[in-house]
Amino acid sequence: MTQIEQRFQPNFLLHGADYNYEQWLDYPDILEEDFRLMREANCNVMSVGIFSWAMLEPAEGQYDFEWLDQLMDTLHENGIQAILATPSGAKPAWMSHAYPEIRRVDAQGRREPHFQRHNHCPTSPVYRQKVRQINTHLAKRYRAHPAVLMWHVSNEYNGGGCHCDLCYAAFRAWLRNRYGTLDTLNHAWWTTFWSHRYTDWSQIEPVDGSIQGLMLDWQRFTSDQMLDFFLAEIEPLRAHTPDVPLTTNFMRPDVGLDYWRFAQHIDVVSWDSYPRWHSQPEEWPVAVETAFYHNLHRSYKNQPFLLMESTPSHTNWQGISRPKKPGMHLLSSMQAVAHGADGVQYFQWRQSRGGTEKFHGAVIGHVASRNARVFQDVKSVGAHLAQLSPATSVSQAEVALLYDFQNEWALTLAQLPRNEEKQYQERCIAHYRPFWQMAVPIDLIACSTSNLMPYKLIIAPMLYMLRQDIAARLDTFVRRGGTVVLTYLSGLVDESDLCFIGASSLRPMLGLWVEQTDVLFDHNTQTLELEADNDLGMSGSYPITHFADIVHTDTAIPVARYGHDYYAGQAAVTINRYGAGQCFYVAGRADTRFLHDFYTALSNNLQLARAVSAPLPLGVTAQQRRHGDQTALYLMNFQPSSQTVELDGGIYEDALTGERLRHSVDLEPLGVRIVWQRLQ
Ligand code: GLA
Ligand code: ZN
Repeated sequence: MTQIEQRFQPNFLLHGADYNYEQWLDYPDILEEDFRLMREANCNVMSVGIFSWAMLEPAEGQYDFEWLDQLMDTLHENGIQAILATPSGAKPAWMSHAYPEIRRVDAQGRREPHFQRHNHCPTSPVYRQKVRQINTHLAKRYRAHPAVLMWHVSNEYNGGGCHCDLCYAAFRAWLRNRYGTLDTLNHAWWTTFWSHRYTDWSQIEPVDGSIQGLMLDWQRFTSDQMLDFFLAEIEPLRAHTPDVPLTTNFMRPDVGLDYWRFAQHIDVVSWDSYPRWHSQPEEWPVAVETAFYHNLHRSYKNQPFLLMESTPSHTNWQGISRPKKPGMHLLSSMQAVAHGADGVQYFQWRQSRGGTEKFHGAVIGHVASRNARVFQDVKSVGAHLAQLSPATSVSQAEVALLYDFQNEWALTLAQLPRNEEKQYQERCIAHYRPFWQMAVPIDLIACSTSNLMPYKLIIAPMLYMLRQDIAARLDTFVRRGGTVVLTYLSGLVDESDLCFIGASSLRPMLGLWVEQTDVLFDHNTQTLELEADNDLGMSGSYPITHFADIVHTDTAIPVARYGHDYYAGQAAVTINRYGAGQCFYVAGRADTRFLHDFYTALSNNLQLARAVSAPLPLGVTAQQRRHGDQTALYLMNFQPSSQTVELDGGIYEDALTGERLRHSVDLEPLGVRIVWQRLQ
């Protein structure tokens, strides 16, 4: 950890919200009421100034910081810290009109009107200059303000590209830097296909989905260019406030940014989580997905993160968003903490009166009643967080799942024999699910993660693209005794999206090569049939859908064989003992029941540590976290009925009530309990 990262080791867990005070300047009574309620809800932090540019700089070069001064002072007087935002997420109307170049251009060459937010051109020198000016003012003015905890840089950056001339020039420069010559580029993009060869850099326009190398590089560029913008944006912050840590709020991994790269440049990872609770017959699959994303955010820097935004009730931008049922707010908030969050924050403190988010959930609704269930729920989270201070590390996992953005982009761009339901993210989550159910901790890792050795098991679903030297590092990991699980659609292309000629470098580790991938319609039947006396002690038959690699084994041994069609009897799951380790290949897309049984067997074989050793009821999970020198066990029930968790024989104590617990813990419907593990 760097010094500045260490500085963000709060000795209390954060609890707060986006506070859009600038919307309420004409309503002086509200300020008083807000602070009374913030104190009552045990809030100790507010994110402020996120969309305030038009209020901070009402006309070019004319600044008004008075209202923000007043807000910062009031926060401090109330013992609340500020996560102070830079306002670049939304540009003022005067600026959009004076400088059209700051507005993005779409792929058809049309410049956007002034509208929405999160849509500035990342290259525009004017916008960069304007951002530098406002950020410099903010940094100089508030650098010594006692309320400042951290910078909230911009808001939800995205990789949505801008097709303006400035961005195209930057893209071509980025390409020159990557490829050096057009010949190299033409080879990497295989442009002789359909006579697409470029003879001048100026001919390159990222609007042709038939050249996948081009579109993949465009995605890489748009991610890098937003990172470049971010680095320019934080320059004045680093210069004037070198001791103030900074974060920027990430989202789920669908926004076109390679967050692994971004995370290297920020001090604290934070993210905005909006799971669709109550949208399915069962709650716990949503919990699994949410846990996966929390783990991803913890893993970006392998350190605690912040839940920067979550709704205390419902959203208003999803098709249907039900208010959280009793229990869910505390449960989902504690879930974030269990997975490594050092704070829980909401969008938003007070519901807007007008505008598109006026019906989005908030801590304080239009009828500002402290008797409202939402407010009471928030208060209860505040009380829990106060009990849990301080928070520290998360324990090292023995299992890692490789999650690579660029692999996902390339896989999405690829035209395959089956293009429907490639589902990279969903499949990664499906492979994670059994570990959630077993309460086995799991990290997510990047292609660039250099040290794989702390892990016993590495899973890399659908590793279509082999980037950097990932194949060699997995190979070494297995030879030295590790276990790797790979699946269908792996090792097909190199970093340029060029197919490997001959088998990929995964072949020795896999002990097989893939001849073809059969793809299945929904009415097709395929199964995998377990071999008798296999190492995993598994038996029976499981359905295969969507993808089925037809393989030739070299040294790999079948654990299961296909049950149908012309390749019945051929290997469907294999094990290859390799060096001191082993590599499994799951050649067909198996269902969640298979993944559950497979990983249960594997985790027993590998003796993976679990947070609770007794089997947990379906939909119940447990996570361990260190708080200071104590270990807390978070027990979470995502079922609508009460559940009981059998404990491991030690002595446990309820973190809130102090109640001693010995053999088991009862969990209410949608209930969470946090218990300290005491030594015998
Ligand atoms: C995002 C934004 C917020 C708000 C919420 C609504 O996360 O960062 O400004 O719009 O969504 O859910
Ligand atoms: Zn642009």
